[in-house]
Amino acid sequence: MLILRAMMGTAPDAGQLMAMLLRLVNAKKTIEIGVFTGYSLLLTALTIPEDGQITAIDVNRETYEIGLPIIKKAGVDHKINFIESEALSVLDQLLKYSENEGSFDYAFVDADKDNYCNYHERLMKLLKVGGIAVYDNTLWGGTVAVPEEQVPDHFRGSSRQAILDLNRSLADDPRVQLSHVALGDGITICRRIF
Ligand SMILES: *[C@@H]1O[C@H](CO)[C@@H](O)[C@H](O)[C@H]1NC(C)=O
Repeated sequence: MLILRAMMGTAPDAGQLMAMLLRLVNAKKTIEIGVFTGYSLLLTALTIPEDGQITAIDVNRETYEIGLPIIKKAGVDHKINFIESEALSVLDQLLKYSENEGSFDYAFVDADKDNYCNYHERLMKLLKVGGIAVYDNTLWGGTVAVPEEQVPDHFRGSSRQAILDLNRSLADDPRVQLSHVALGDGITICRRIF
């Protein structure tokens, strides 16, 4: 079952770009929405400084615990605050404290696609101006560029629609500078500009 879901992990070439982005913004305080087995979490923890902090949210602690021994072996687990929860309530909780507003340098989003637009609204408040949000799977197997009737059945549905909606709303969002990168399953990089 886990092997079948291995495609949920982040692609290594996209990982290198993420490490680059983390360094470019000198990321110290980050948030990860959707952890799965923790590939990008490990990458982030290895890249940010010793006193950096990652708030990592996932509905499933079991998959996080599959990767956790490796994270521990790398000696970076102290940078991670794992929260087992769906993410919206955690983000809303964070926003109750004004010191969290504009305090995050970097966000990585790879969770339920149906909420991508909802996550984005919260992240625009949590991220610093100049901070970066990265959304994963934004090419959805390439099907975002395929006419509806030609999309294979298993790519159809609310997730694909949510990705299309996210792309449309980001294109109209004056708060962000955008780059849609065709690495892995597609990542969309948004830099908060005000
Ligand atoms: C994203 O939205 C822009 C603006 O509407 C559009 O030009 C572009 O083709 C869209 N890309 C994808 C992959 O949906």
